[in-house]
Amino acid sequence: MGRDTAPEELSREEARAELARLSAELARANAAYHTEDAPEITDAEYDALKRRNAAIEARFPDLKRADSPSDVVGAAPSETFSKVRHRVRMLSLGNAFSDEDVADFAKSVGRYLGREAPIAFTAEPKIDGLSLSLRYEGGRLVQAATRGDGQEGENVTANARTISDIPDTLNSAPEVLEVRGEVYMTHADFAALNERQAEQGGKTFANPRNAAAGSLRQLDAEITRSRPLRFFAYAWGEVSAPLADTQMGAIERLGALGFSTNPLTRVCADTDEMLAHYRDIESQRATLGYDIDGVVYKVDDLTLQERLGFRSTTPRWAIAHKFPAELAWTRLEAIDIQVGRTGALSPVARLSPVTVGGVVVSNATLHNEDYIAGQDANGQPIREGRDIRVGDWVQVYRAGDVIPKIADVDLSQRPDGTKPYAFPTICPECGSEAVREEGDAVRRCTGGLICPAQAVEKLKHFVGRSAFDIEGLGSKQVEQFYRDDWIAEPADIFTLKKRYGPGCLTQLKNREGWGEKSAENLFDAIDERRKIALNRVIFALGIRHVGEAAAGLLAGHYGTWEAFEAAMAGAEIGEGAAWDDLNAIDGVGKVMAASVVTAFHQEAERASMARLVAELDIQEVRRPDTEGSPVAGKTVVFTGTLEKMTRAEAKARAEALGAKVSGSVSAKTDLLVAGPGAGSKAKKAADLGIETIDEDGWLDLIGAS
Ligand code: IVH
Repeated sequence: MGRDTAPEELSREEARAELARLSAELARANAAYHTEDAPEITDAEYDALKRRNAAIEARFPDLKRADSPSDVVGAAPSETFSKVRHRVRMLSLGNAFSDEDVADFAKSVGRYLGREAPIAFTAEPKIDGLSLSLRYEGGRLVQAATRGDGQEGENVTANARTISDIPDTLNSAPEVLEVRGEVYMTHADFAALNERQAEQGGKTFANPRNAAAGSLRQLDAEITRSRPLRFFAYAWGEVSAPLADTQMGAIERLGALGFSTNPLTRVCADTDEMLAHYRDIESQRATLGYDIDGVVYKVDDLTLQERLGFRSTTPRWAIAHKFPAELAWTRLEAIDIQVGRTGALSPVARLSPVTVGGVVVSNATLHNEDYIAGQDANGQPIREGRDIRVGDWVQVYRAGDVIPKIADVDLSQRPDGTKPYAFPTICPECGSEAVREEGDAVRRCTGGLICPAQAVEKLKHFVGRSAFDIEGLGSKQVEQFYRDDWIAEPADIFTLKKRYGPGCLTQLKNREGWGEKSAENLFDAIDERRKIALNRVIFALGIRHVGEAAAGLLAGHYGTWEAFEAAMAGAEIGEGAAWDDLNAIDGVGKVMAASVVTAFHQEAERASMARLVAELDIQEVRRPDTEGSPVAGKTVVFTGTLEKMTRAEAKARAEALGAKVSGSVSAKTDLLVAGPGAGSKAKKAADLGIETIDEDGWLDLIGAS
């Protein structure tokens, strides 16, 4: 199986493994994009991974993971700001990439509502910034929070107060009003900021979105004040009184209250008008003076919005119509090989700098050796089989704010005397053999811990946000400490102080970039992390295929490090009770299982883990309680005619409350909701003594009447 196998061709087992991989990959991409403001893959790649995940889930609904990326918005908030729980979740938007997608979306809205006539939508630019929720009580701004993971964001109130587009007080606003919108930076302000930063030796930003995010998420609000941020209001969260009857009316009301709203917002009567406005906005894109990455359509009638409600992470009443990716041509100067944590050799294109969509690009990913040679993992041609060579004239592609890639090559511009690229079979970092296993698109260094690149990348992963997250010990410090032979493996971090004794502090504080206070803080931060949750430890080990989500599943299943370690050490790949038990975990596939067991069977790896564990106090993991809603965990069946909602709406609501909706009555059914015309199902339920209620009874039960 490969990551390129079409969803409809995957076997059940392959689908399970693929969902695990996608979950991990998307979690990593999310963290890079949202928490670290440093995206690793393009928006288009991200969207493709999400679509692939959704397609596989649609084929195997029962394999959908507890941590399914379909249910995740953004990433968890970073540790530096206090947290704010959103009273109304901050959601993401589904994507449309073509006119057909938009037509399908409009049709599905009509179908859901049981309407034939066209439904009116607003259409407005999708601003490429970061979303912010502003809470006003009694007309005063009391709180500002970033989206975070949609449930919980970061408290950035002091920073938001410094943005001139954000009013401190409102006249004649509802008692409680949460205004939501996008913080962004104009191109001109971005260029000036980068120039200023460069002059002062500060950090420069890759694009306006990163600059806006980095400027808003400053611990010192005075820095935010010095950054030219702006805000467009386009939505709302909790409100004590409705703003209007329509989306357009609500936006006008926000405008009247003193917020900036986007002047390109229109009401469109049907799909043709929506698409016409999309093209109009697209034609103005280059001259707007700020980045947009598409057009957002929203059902105009707010009563209908409410009926449509939400899927797990996206509203049914809105969609983002994305602009196509941006392209440019340039010269490929060189191909460098980077060695990653798991030994993967990744080819990186070094380019003659070129501007793609307003950003200067000089590096791009080339994925793997097959990609360079012009074929996919199954040997099928890509780019009609054209290979990529140093010296070639290549097409660079990026969508949004992301690592660009090479999409194509122009053979008519190929210089004389070029040779096909010979992918190294020796690790450029340690000289060990680099091998490609059957079915793997990637060539890997076999040096393990003797390979300095792998060792450093492993350490960087170990101290990453979702792993040990040691304050003051980031990638840069890890590299420095590794170079100086202070640390070679994770355990060394915890023995650093012991090994160097009291002199350690002096040594550290004599180094560039370290003072007495920061050195002391570092050792405190290290000690603080000795007590740590099992899932973080498992994730931190950096075992191939074991992402954050998978680590959570393993921790939840085994509970303690001792149980996990004993089970893995005792397991044999492909047979026996321990192997079966591992594979029985929902969300763990054979590939991941084999990878974990292999890691625990490698002598050096085991020893290194043992040294680490000896330094830690690993916390047991208990499963969370799923109590909460009156129908959580119950199996519900709907029958007969529903008068206040469509069947799809009823099912979606029930599922959102944690119920399982089934099509037939059986002894497992907990509740039957029967409308007029209910027949055999109602009779069967009565025979089985199953509780039966009508539609109003159901609405009462879920508190929706
Ligand atoms: S509406 C419930 N309108 O896009 C949906 N979002 O991909 C609320 N965004 O998280 C969002 N411009 O950060 C909406 N005109 C616009 C937008 C917009 C940009 C962002 C927003 C959202 C993301 C979803």
